[in-house]
Amino acid sequence: MNFDLKTISQSAALSHKSDLLVVLQKTADTKAPSNKSNTTSVLSQYLSKIQKEESFDAKPGKTLLLLKPEHIQAKRLMLLGTGEGKPGEVRKSVLSAFKSIKSLGYKNITLLIEEANSPEQCLKLSILAVSDALYLYSKTKPSAKPAKSGKSQAPNSVDISVTFGVPDAKAATVQKAYLEALALGEGIELAKEWGNRPANHATPTHLGNVALNLGKHPNIKVNVLGPKEVEKLGMGSFISVAQGSSEPLRFITMEYRGARAKSTAPVVLVGKGITFDTGGISLKPGAGMDEMKFDMCGAASVLGVFKSLSVLRPDDLHVVGLIPTCENMPDGTAIKPGDVVTSMSGQTIEILNTDAEGRLILCDALTYAKRYKPKAVIDIATLTGACVIALGHLRSGLFSNNDELAHALEKAGEASLDTCWRMPLDDEYADALKSNFADVANVGDRSAGSVTAAKFLQRFANDYVWAHLDIAGTAWNSGAAKGSTGRPVGLLMEYLLNHSNKSPSASIPAKKADSAQVVAKTIRGSGSKSRSKSSSK
Ligand code: BES
Ligand code: MN
Ligand code: ZN
Repeated sequence: MNFDLKTISQSAALSHKSDLLVVLQKTADTKAPSNKSNTTSVLSQYLSKIQKEESFDAKPGKTLLLLKPEHIQAKRLMLLGTGEGKPGEVRKSVLSAFKSIKSLGYKNITLLIEEANSPEQCLKLSILAVSDALYLYSKTKPSAKPAKSGKSQAPNSVDISVTFGVPDAKAATVQKAYLEALALGEGIELAKEWGNRPANHATPTHLGNVALNLGKHPNIKVNVLGPKEVEKLGMGSFISVAQGSSEPLRFITMEYRGARAKSTAPVVLVGKGITFDTGGISLKPGAGMDEMKFDMCGAASVLGVFKSLSVLRPDDLHVVGLIPTCENMPDGTAIKPGDVVTSMSGQTIEILNTDAEGRLILCDALTYAKRYKPKAVIDIATLTGACVIALGHLRSGLFSNNDELAHALEKAGEASLDTCWRMPLDDEYADALKSNFADVANVGDRSAGSVTAAKFLQRFANDYVWAHLDIAGTAWNSGAAKGSTGRPVGLLMEYLLNHSNKSPSASIPAKKADSAQVVAKTIRGSGSKSRSKSSSK
């Protein structure tokens, strides 16, 4: 995969040589081609002629392929319908078209982007859709690679050069969109690749090495801690999950600092890195257990963000990445239901279910995050099956103790088409986690499982502005298209690049800023602060 950006006008498109010229078409283009200012161009006249002849309606994803097209130097011409041209439609159409083009053996393709309203957005969406489509998993399936692939071939994608043709490639906004999309594409690719690798090819040690590799970049510092150092830190909860496995745990810290970000407080990202989740002694059923290799997708998204940062090198960002990573295995040495462990925060935890392990490794990382005096802490985790029941595979679950941060993340999700949905954190949900033998239990009953998981994490995130993204339903696809999605790298990069400077400072006490909860309580308690929690139910 090799990308290139060029100024290609309609008339230049005629003489542009390539194996395939793809032209995006909206339904409006097919109905009223005469509205266009450049009706006279040979290309648009030709396009409207074939659209009529072939009754091409430009519905999203519809394609019309012509061999040896008249007037045009490219060997083939493809009309690709994008419906009304909404961002979601453009993404879907380009993705499906390039997935089918992928195996046809074309060496170079030109995609003409003529969107007048926002060529930047259309370009960005198209680049991301093309990289998504051309991604190829081959690490443990070398036969998936095309036979004739040259030595220069990138390891994780099909060997195709794609030229994106825009009306003005020199425009600063277009350049910016192009570079951002390339960087984001690389980050998403890295997250997908590591999500997809089987657990015996993606151990905590491997993830540590991925981070160390990123640490070669001048703006990124990386430190990878092993069992001894983690023990010294007092991360008793994290250690208890790792103790049933013969793979040693790793605690990865990464820090990106842009040239102009000397004294700014960082945004800390914490990614769940369970490289395989058997459930431990509370063993999971066998069916579909292979998918628990994806239980490190939170960690992979943090690595993906750092990859994007290393490519883009934004000047004014300060970002920290923390990854607790280990396996959750059943063994003679494994933790047992009822065991009580002491977290780094000093709080004791009764482990009623060893399958609720994600929160046990995250809580110690959340405590560790305090030392950075963060502007905000965002954890990303394939945390609960209950979140999949609540939101399906479309939106990630969002929980936050701060409205401003929650809104910034919601906005970033919409803008990047990597959406999330805010879930509640009323204090009463924490009642389910009461324990007779420790400060807190690691599970409640079955009801509101994604919320009680978030309530558990919140106990360790009280000292700063915090959000939690439950990506259990969005990090990978099941079935025939089984594979990692790379989400939510898009959401996180959008947030970091556009919203981090406006996000709240660490000096706002998280609890007071949580007006959503205050409002909820006021309604239930009829505005009387003297009513107790239980009587307001
Ligand atoms: N990694 C799983 C969550 C998960 C399950 C993600 C299925 C995607 C699909 C997590 O560690 C887990 O096992 N959670 C339990 C929690 C329960 C024991 C309270 C779950 O969701 O069943
Ligand atoms: Mn589990
Ligand atoms: Zn898990």
